[in-house]
Amino acid sequence: MPELALRGGKPVRTKPYPSWPVFDTDEQNELLEALKGGRWSIGGEKLMAFEAEFAAFHQARYGVACSSGSAALVIALKALGVGPGDHVLVPAYTFVSTAQAVLDLGATPVFVDVDQDTYTISIPEAERQLTPRTKVVVPVHVAGCPADMDEVRKFSDRHGVRILEDAAQAHGAEWSGRRVGAIGDLGVFSFYQSKNMTAGEGGFIVTDSQGLADLVWSFHNVGRDRRREWYEHVRYGWNARMTEFQAAVLRAQLRRLPQMMTKREDAASYLTRRLDEIEGIAPLKIPPKVTRHSHHLYIFRFSSAAFGGISKESFVSALRAEGIPCSKGYTPLYAYGFLWEAMREKVQDRSSLKLVNAEKAVEEAVWIPQNVLLASREELDDIVEAVEKIKRCSGELT
Ligand SMILES: Cc1ncc(COP(=O)(O)O)c(C=O)c1O
Repeated sequence: MPELALRGGKPVRTKPYPSWPVFDTDEQNELLEALKGGRWSIGGEKLMAFEAEFAAFHQARYGVACSSGSAALVIALKALGVGPGDHVLVPAYTFVSTAQAVLDLGATPVFVDVDQDTYTISIPEAERQLTPRTKVVVPVHVAGCPADMDEVRKFSDRHGVRILEDAAQAHGAEWSGRRVGAIGDLGVFSFYQSKNMTAGEGGFIVTDSQGLADLVWSFHNVGRDRRREWYEHVRYGWNARMTEFQAAVLRAQLRRLPQMMTKREDAASYLTRRLDEIEGIAPLKIPPKVTRHSHHLYIFRFSSAAFGGISKESFVSALRAEGIPCSKGYTPLYAYGFLWEAMREKVQDRSSLKLVNAEKAVEEAVWIPQNVLLASREELDDIVEAVEKIKRCSGELT
């Protein structure tokens, strides 16, 4: 008789985990007010208020709301002067937009291996990939874990390379007591549907530099100048503006974020305590200087050897069948042929590029989405039970 749900057995869990996104009357009231406010794009009251509130939440002096995180990345890189001939260091283990933004500007992404314990950019590896034309380094706070910003800062100072933080997954996260985003020159956030706060779509750029904030504002508003007439465009730009409706929803989402952050952190540390007891499962480490982790994803490493040699793909399929939402996560960006095809210049050799820790992450990393961390401890126990069950019954999968 099979036991695994994947083989027709009874799943550990049939009830769904807390659904996402969440909203209540706060979002509803904000939206209705926005509707009645009559200013539905730039200049709307809620949009201006949200820009100030989100920037302040991230301890940044300036903030510009954008249409998406991807658009925000392009604009931020443009504001840092990135263009054809420039090289930009990006971790190999990240969302595709981190590299595509570089390519959109005619520059070349240079793939850097990640740290084996956190999957954030490895600065010793960035040193290896540095070229005389490296203009920007993009630490990605993957899963909501800040990259080592002390090392990133030292690297930047040593080589005169600017810093763009990709904080798309890291709302509220902190490195050494400082919120991410404006630790570097510029920082980018996303409010896509799955993110820890969302309006369906949306992005944001924070900075402490007034000059960069003005440039970002201009690029996101078809090259306008804040201080000039509406039809006096001063440079090439894009329409990457956020609407008043997105800002309305996001104001309410931001008010709920602190309480949700605490909930996710509690759940993640509980889950880590429990999963750490299972041989062959190793939750990702959180460096001591990460004073807040936003847990956009809960990532653990799966060791095939401890599970009868089954592949990670089989494990993920089995875990899903047991009622646990999870995914196998990223492919290293350099595996995507279309990124190489879009490069005007090749800095790395595609055929020999093999970044050890990024490849290991593909073999081992299992992702659980943030909404699962909003569940009760008893519901989190189902994850542990499902993993143990798969281990016990791994023979059914070989
Ligand atoms: C690390 C990272 N960078 C950039 C983005 C792009 O954000 P958006 O989906 O809002 O364009 C995402 C979103 O998935 C992301 O996770």
